[in-house]
Amino acid sequence: MARAAELREKIAGHNHDYYVLDRPTISDAEYDALFRELSSLEAEYPSLVTPDSPTQRVGGAPQSEFAPVHHAVRMLSIRTETDTTPAGAVEFDARIRRDLGLAPDAPPVQYMAELKFDGLAINLRYEQGRLTIAATRGDGEVGEDVTRNILTIRAIPHTLKTKRPPEILDVRGEVYMTRADFAALNARQRDAGLRLYINPRNTAAGAVRQLDPAMTAARPLTFFAYGIGEVRGFDLPPTHGELLDTLARFGLPVDDHRRVVRGADALVAFYEHVTAIRDELPFDIDGVVYKVDSLALQRELGFVTREPRWAVAHKFPAEEQATRLLDIAVQVGRTGAITPIARLDPVFVGGVTVTNATLHNEDEVRRKDVRIGDTVVVRRAGDVIPEVVRVLVDRRPSDAREFVMPTRCPECGSAVLRLPDEAIARCTGGLVCPAQRKQALRHFASRHAMDIEGLGEKLIDQLVDTGRVKTPADLYALRAGELAELERMADKSAQNVVAAIDQSRQTTLARFIYALGIRHVGEATARDLAAHFGALDPILTASEEALLEVRDVGPVLAESIRDFLAEPHNRGVIGALRKAGVRFPEGPPQRAANGPLIGKTFVLTGTLPKLSRDEAKALLEAAGATVAGGVSKKTDYVVAGADAGGKLAKAQSLGIAILDEAQMRALVEPPASSPS
Ligand code: IVH
Repeated sequence: MARAAELREKIAGHNHDYYVLDRPTISDAEYDALFRELSSLEAEYPSLVTPDSPTQRVGGAPQSEFAPVHHAVRMLSIRTETDTTPAGAVEFDARIRRDLGLAPDAPPVQYMAELKFDGLAINLRYEQGRLTIAATRGDGEVGEDVTRNILTIRAIPHTLKTKRPPEILDVRGEVYMTRADFAALNARQRDAGLRLYINPRNTAAGAVRQLDPAMTAARPLTFFAYGIGEVRGFDLPPTHGELLDTLARFGLPVDDHRRVVRGADALVAFYEHVTAIRDELPFDIDGVVYKVDSLALQRELGFVTREPRWAVAHKFPAEEQATRLLDIAVQVGRTGAITPIARLDPVFVGGVTVTNATLHNEDEVRRKDVRIGDTVVVRRAGDVIPEVVRVLVDRRPSDAREFVMPTRCPECGSAVLRLPDEAIARCTGGLVCPAQRKQALRHFASRHAMDIEGLGEKLIDQLVDTGRVKTPADLYALRAGELAELERMADKSAQNVVAAIDQSRQTTLARFIYALGIRHVGEATARDLAAHFGALDPILTASEEALLEVRDVGPVLAESIRDFLAEPHNRGVIGALRKAGVRFPEGPPQRAANGPLIGKTFVLTGTLPKLSRDEAKALLEAAGATVAGGVSKKTDYVVAGADAGGKLAKAQSLGIAILDEAQMRALVEPPASSPS
């Protein structure tokens, strides 16, 4: 039948992409679906089965560059339980009981329950206790000789820890990479501007099959043993559990999460337990494996074609699925952060239907080269927010569109700004943006800002949710009667809150500036701004240059202040607050009254030989100078130490005097008289 041939060809192609190139172009779930379709076609029409059908083999053909290794005992795969709910375990137990011909009242069967590691299956052949050959599974009969690469893995012993080693012992297990090692590896790749790896499994598989063992050694791999192949000159223990204990005694790494359990309920409990701890494991798993514990019963159960009857893989629902990306919208967070969100064709992944997934930020959209109309792989692991992990570029339609970050906030229309050193774009409408309202009000009322006692989180939530308060200025119009209507608000407390709001009208300029919630403007900066300018109006009209003269204000801060104040919505609220009667004493700028450096502006950059930055600043300020955070035309001197960067360059370009530490000291402490 044509469909079977088509499926065989497709699957073979994907096998090649996955096993040989380590670059899958479809998701695991899609692959499984193709495979299942072919298997069921073949089950229905056995005449369709061809010897080269992918269902008759385990993986890709051995890569030509590695020497072939004939496995003494075929390396089998295991059946995958189709039911990914806990009930899959019950089905397995029922099948075993049936195959063993057990009566319903016969005692429960004993199983070994293990994690299903997500890596690459390997056979380690120990002869007289020495590791002689390590081979991949290949097609189950013939694998690839990867001995030189496997020898670089520290977790794998080169000799077994036993005085009387078996003549022959084939140890089977999984080579994998921990999540931490994978993350560190990708961080290095990113720093070096190299391609990022997709996931630990593909990376581990790729590393094992490197032709240059040095390349393998560069990727941190490790190993868990879970079974055996050929054994000679060694009496096997009666159970699989004891066999694993023996392997552990021989010095092989065996995972500690394994449990000997009895009956279906215990298998279900194991499945549920592992589901719960899965995210905390240091490595990836894609399910659990149940094995009949007794080796005698294993022999009795035997095999069907390529799979043992005594074991099953019980996988978790797929955590990655491919779907179409319909659009990219943006979402405004409570701090004004603007996040691109993928709108998806609904897809069932990680146990839930997902319609939206995060794209994190603009750079991530570019790095992953995600375009509207693409088919993307969506991942949802545990309780983590679903994310778009990669694009299936082969399936990109010709009309796919690139994402453009909006210049205006979709919630309030204020300008969207991305500071030079930040990955996140933000809405500048801090005081007016509905998405940021609650956060802005909480900050406005907080103790070090306007200090409005009794105006807590719950009350703010209610005031915003009922539409009574949109901006901080609205607080000053609230009446006690109105507040008393809200939940958990007695008349007395309503009056207290209104009184506290009223009291907050009389404040200080520093508190007022801090209360505005300008990004990066903390209490200290607010005090510096208040002292430097003395009054609000000069701050509102200050240029970036003028802001740079303020103590500790650098370019990032200056830009943030400018952008906040340039936003008309924010200006509107400041005006409304003043109209509502918010007052603060204003006066002339407070700058040092005397000293040799009065009126001079300094900027410090780089590391000075003797003085710390704070010490240098204190010396200059004591002499009457202003120490600014950034260089402008008004800067008089730049004091440059080692590793000075952009500020020094800017000073040079502006022709500003550049001093070293000694020259600066000479200015601060002029020699009283020269020694005679
Ligand atoms: S036992 C005859 N145990 O999952 C039984 N396999 O098809 C052979 N795997 O090829 C496999 N963790 O690469 C077994 N605890 C575990 C496993 C495990 C991961 C892999 C192995 C195998 C595939 C299942």
